[in-house]
Amino acid sequence: MNPNTNFKGKWALVTGASAGIGVALARELAKAGANLVLTARRTDRMETLAAELRASGTDVRIVAADLNDPAAPAAIHKTTADLAIEILINNAGLGQFSPFHECGLEQELSQVRVNCEAMVHLTRLYLPAMVERKRGWVMILSSLASYQPLPYLATYAATKAFDRFFSEALAAEVSQMGIHVTALCPGPTDSEFFIVSRAGAISGSKRQSAEQVAARGVRALARGKRTIIPYAVGRFIGFLSWLTPNRIVTFFVERGTRPQK
Ligand SMILES: NC(=O)c1ccc[n+]([C@@H]2O[C@H](COP(=O)([O-])OP(=O)(O)OC[C@H]3O[C@@H](n4cnc5c(N)ncnc54)[C@H](OP(=O)(O)O)[C@@H]3O)[C@@H](O)[C@H]2O)c1
Repeated sequence: MNPNTNFKGKWALVTGASAGIGVALARELAKAGANLVLTARRTDRMETLAAELRASGTDVRIVAADLNDPAAPAAIHKTTADLAIEILINNAGLGQFSPFHECGLEQELSQVRVNCEAMVHLTRLYLPAMVERKRGWVMILSSLASYQPLPYLATYAATKAFDRFFSEALAAEVSQMGIHVTALCPGPTDSEFFIVSRAGAISGSKRQSAEQVAARGVRALARGKRTIIPYAVGRFIGFLSWLTPNRIVTFFVERGTRPQK
């Protein structure tokens, strides 16, 4: 049986639902029969997606929010208080490729706030009702970048390591309560990430599609997998990174990705 059928008729909240992997995750969950709360800053994008999903029978609500604002998670939670959110998708995120001493400070701090703080806050707000229902699904977007420190993406890789460690620890805490927590760890994926982070030059041209990442992620979530790297080469890279001392990995990554002056 297709495990995604678990999601039929349930409400899912997707952060970062205006672009890239978030849009693909929303479509994939709608395909599985879930209703959706979409949240991000760009309302026009979410309106377009909502119209598409409603046309095929999905109930959709839009909540505009900037996750840089520490009050945003509570505001999102309040706006959805009348819904039983059974699936929480912590997808919103950003990076910045730069020598750290020259980086835009605001974009570095935003990574900590959006990739980590808002994710922890939203999870803390939505989890208790899942525990009470003895049923729920939480996805946290980590990355293949979580498997080793990355020079010139230092903050980004550190936030994604935080995301994966948090996710795997939480999965162990709540699995006996009927709740599945999945860390989705994509490698380079076609999205606006590389425009926002300016990391296009180091990613190479071979990227996975957001649709493929989302399909594999939602399937892993439905099956209760705790960690998923959604492609074979990525799993091999993750394994090699895990085996190799960080000092050696960072030596080669620093030389291989050093920005040209
Ligand atoms: N693309 C990759 O290669 C890749 C690889 C591994 C992991 N990931 C992870 O996948 C997730 C999605 O990234 P993506 O590749 O789909 O990137 P993307 O196309 O740039 O989408 C990022 C999403 O996050 C939202 N977001 C960013 N800052 C926000 C803020 N302050 N408040 C609310 N929402 C915010 C954006 O919405 P608004 O701008 O409308 O607010 C957008 O919907 C991220 O967590 C990223 O770290 C991506």
